[in-house]
Amino acid sequence: MKFSISTTKVTETKSSCLILPVFEGGQLNRAPKLIDAANGGIISDFQKNADITGKIGQCRMLPVQNKTYKRILLVGCGKYEKYSENRYKKALTSALKKLTSTNHKSATNFLAAGHKPNKKVDYRTARIMAEVWHQISYQYTATNSKKAKEFRLNRLSLGTNGRKRNPEMKKGFDHGNSIGSAIKKVKHFGDLPANFCTPSFLVQEARKIASTHKTVSLKVVNEPEMKKLGMGALLSVTAGSIEPSKLIILKYQGGKSNQKPIVIVGKGVTFDSGGISIKPGHKMDEMKFDMCGGAAAIGILQAVADIGLPLNVISIIPACENLPSGNATKPGDIVTSMSGQTIEVLNTDAEGRLILADALTYCQRFKPKLIIDMATLTGACIVALGHHLSGLMSNSDDLAKKLLAAGEAAGDGTWRLPLGKKYMDQLKSNFADIGNISGGGGGAGTVTAACFLQKFVNDVEWAHLDIAGVAWLEGNNKGATGRPVALISEFLIQEASK
Ligand code: BES
Ligand code: MN
Ligand code: ZN
Repeated sequence: MKFSISTTKVTETKSSCLILPVFEGGQLNRAPKLIDAANGGIISDFQKNADITGKIGQCRMLPVQNKTYKRILLVGCGKYEKYSENRYKKALTSALKKLTSTNHKSATNFLAAGHKPNKKVDYRTARIMAEVWHQISYQYTATNSKKAKEFRLNRLSLGTNGRKRNPEMKKGFDHGNSIGSAIKKVKHFGDLPANFCTPSFLVQEARKIASTHKTVSLKVVNEPEMKKLGMGALLSVTAGSIEPSKLIILKYQGGKSNQKPIVIVGKGVTFDSGGISIKPGHKMDEMKFDMCGGAAAIGILQAVADIGLPLNVISIIPACENLPSGNATKPGDIVTSMSGQTIEVLNTDAEGRLILADALTYCQRFKPKLIIDMATLTGACIVALGHHLSGLMSNSDDLAKKLLAAGEAAGDGTWRLPLGKKYMDQLKSNFADIGNISGGGGGAGTVTAACFLQKFVNDVEWAHLDIAGVAWLEGNNKGATGRPVALISEFLIQEASK
């Protein structure tokens, strides 16, 4: 897709289709008003007859004659007073979906991410255009005999209706393209089944990013080195699997070499059967998505490198399978983590926290400015928050606040849950320094999982995102969502602008 800026008057736009807003019960203003006048009141006539009411997402394609444009796509944008970035996103999504079902090759967008044009609105309008395009053009075909559908639409312009272009528009396209393609990639990794998306596959994909960006380097820790490092927690999870586990370290240097890095850790369990504490069969296939945090860590690093943010970012992905076998870890087994703390593995299905524990210890060597981990960690998080918001837990009010705000801005929201000694105490073990689950019940499974992780972050500023409910959709629309790439990218863009 080619994104461009069209600064001609709306009435002189050369494009196969103009995308114009219609508000509920509202007067036409600016671009639609001019087009209405230039075409004998065609839009107001449609409104009069309720052919379009302006309901959000409604689409009507109108043919016009002897103009520099062939069609007008009217898009319902809801009530004018309630118009927002979110509604713009919705309206644009239905417009672009509609266009992909036609043969039109180009379109010019006159919907905007706010009421009055200004620099911020221009940036957001362009960025969301690119993000939405990537979102609706994602197709999973890797393991189907059917080929992907080719889109005719190949040029999308941002129409300014005579206003001068400004650099924020191009920046918006660049950011939106980088974030959008990263999300696409993360969805792809998530959707791939576990016999394709293995830890070694993730290494290959990480290597591609390193070899195509001068600013990115890759290090992979293999099992022999894990043993040397004393990563008993990570190794205990992979013990039952034949697929070799990998600790992937992708480094992006966009800032000064003495600038402390932001470390992003992602759970990369490419299949979680539960191990000896085996899961029931129903929906077990969905545990191929248990690497979505790891995939997001790879995607975020790619986005940041594509944009070229002036930051140092390191993504760390512990990747392995969790399977039962004669070699598998058994409930009650005690392992020693890289930090030296011993762990009683009361339930082998609480494996994410075990691999993250060693990854969190490993990342201390980089003297991180802050750490954010992302993991499909607990079913309990789905009970608490459903499929709308990620669970956010942090030892820093400041970082939590920033992440809540970034999530809100990116449409990739979170909700904060507590941490604290009382929850931490639920992890006490009679036989080891800590249990991997709350031995005596007590509920709060999402919080106790985070407390477990906290034992391995030392005093570094840290946030944990439990993405169990948001990383993929179930049912007929089963598929990875790419979350929380948008949220973390937004956070990093904000960090870089300081
Ligand atoms: N990957 C799962 C969490 C999960 C389950 C995510 C369902 C999304 C949907 C994780 O490894 C797990 O199995 N957690 C256990 C922890 C329990 C044993 C304390 C869980 O949530 O049941
Ligand atoms: Mn599990
Ligand atoms: Zn898991």
